[in-house]
Amino acid sequence: VPHALITGGTGAIGFATARRLCAAGWSVAVTGRSAAHFPEPLAELGVRFTVCDRDDSARLRAVAAGGADLLVDCACKTAAQAHDVAELLGSFGSTVLISSRAVYVDAQGRHLNSDEPPSFDGPIGESQPTLRPDGSAAGTREGYGPNKVAAERVLLDCGYPVSVLRASKVHGSWSRRPREWVFVKRALDRRRHLFLAGNGRGGDHCTAAVNIAALVEVVAGQPSRRVLNVADPDVPTALDIAHLVASHLGHSWEEMLIEGDGPGEAAVGRTPWDLCPPVVLDTSAALELGYRPVGGYAETVIEELDWLATQYRDRRAGWPLPAVDDPFFAPLMNYAAEDSLLALWASQPGGGDGFKRPSP
Ligand SMILES: NC(=O)c1ccc[n+]([C@@H]2O[C@H](COP(=O)([O-])OP(=O)(O)OC[C@H]3O[C@@H](n4cnc5c(N)ncnc54)[C@H](OP(=O)(O)O)[C@@H]3O)[C@@H](O)[C@H]2O)c1
Repeated sequence: VPHALITGGTGAIGFATARRLCAAGWSVAVTGRSAAHFPEPLAELGVRFTVCDRDDSARLRAVAAGGADLLVDCACKTAAQAHDVAELLGSFGSTVLISSRAVYVDAQGRHLNSDEPPSFDGPIGESQPTLRPDGSAAGTREGYGPNKVAAERVLLDCGYPVSVLRASKVHGSWSRRPREWVFVKRALDRRRHLFLAGNGRGGDHCTAAVNIAALVEVVAGQPSRRVLNVADPDVPTALDIAHLVASHLGHSWEEMLIEGDGPGEAAVGRTPWDLCPPVVLDTSAALELGYRPVGGYAETVIEELDWLATQYRDRRAGWPLPAVDDPFFAPLMNYAAEDSLLALWASQPGGGDGFKRPSP
């Protein structure tokens, strides 16, 4: 029975990958920082869990002792973490490093985490230039890409077969940042109105964790040193996602489309899928290797929507659904600012504050 170790394996990508490998007859072990975050469905499949902070080199060595056919590293974000794992790769058949499209730069050197958004000429291939590797500012938005590039370089240069998979915006159940929460919570809270900036026409390329798992299985069968983009076959708009969430959760809201950005610091109407045009990954190299996506965004996101709804309704103690003051989610879910804008629009027919009221 082939064996896989997945570090940082209790989140969206680890969950989907462990489950897929189990279905294909592998034995799987996962690590994470908290046993409370180990998904029960994985335990039911016989997946083993070990506590291991990715920055604890000695613990990582102990967990990886004995090796495995496959290592999938979902928690490697710096060159130092990559060096720790590179020392161990002699006892692994092959390795997958989960990386990100945030490494790519456009012709002006802009990237997904720069203040000014990047502008690419079309779908981004793997040969698109990347940021320069830089180990400073790890743990910050600006430092994420340069540190990811540094980690990629260490593993690609270490002489062992390493597949670097560059993902887009990941969705899947057990995610620690389930972006669809911005619509799911509103639907469960029975909000009657949904504001969407940019008329809801912004969008983004997303990557289902189950699609990453499909590519992991392909590269595990063909160990080599390579870089591959991984993303869904389609690119939804914010409006598509809003429709999907509301209809799946049996809710309806009046869509209040705002031209341009929403008003005020609260930026009413902003969503995580506001890129116009969206940043799209070219996945032809993965397809040529044999990658077959499990499905498009709408089919693959449903499991996460149901998982979020269940977690919210059960209020499972200890499970990290985003807190109301979560710095990522709070500005995107400012009900008070939305209610103020509604009141303003109600009192000023034709719109207020320069923002166009949508036609009925
Ligand atoms: N999410 C995205 O949109 C996205 C996009 C592109 C690339 N990526 C890459 O995907 C990887 C994350 O995968 P994911 O989306 O499945 O993440 P996730 O849902 O956020 O889950 C993170 C996983 O990593 C564990 N973890 C976090 N910090 C750790 C640490 N210091 N030591 C050990 N384990 C740690 C978590 O366990 P605990 O909860 O126990 O800490 C959990 O198992 C990262 O390498 C990231 O750069 C993510």
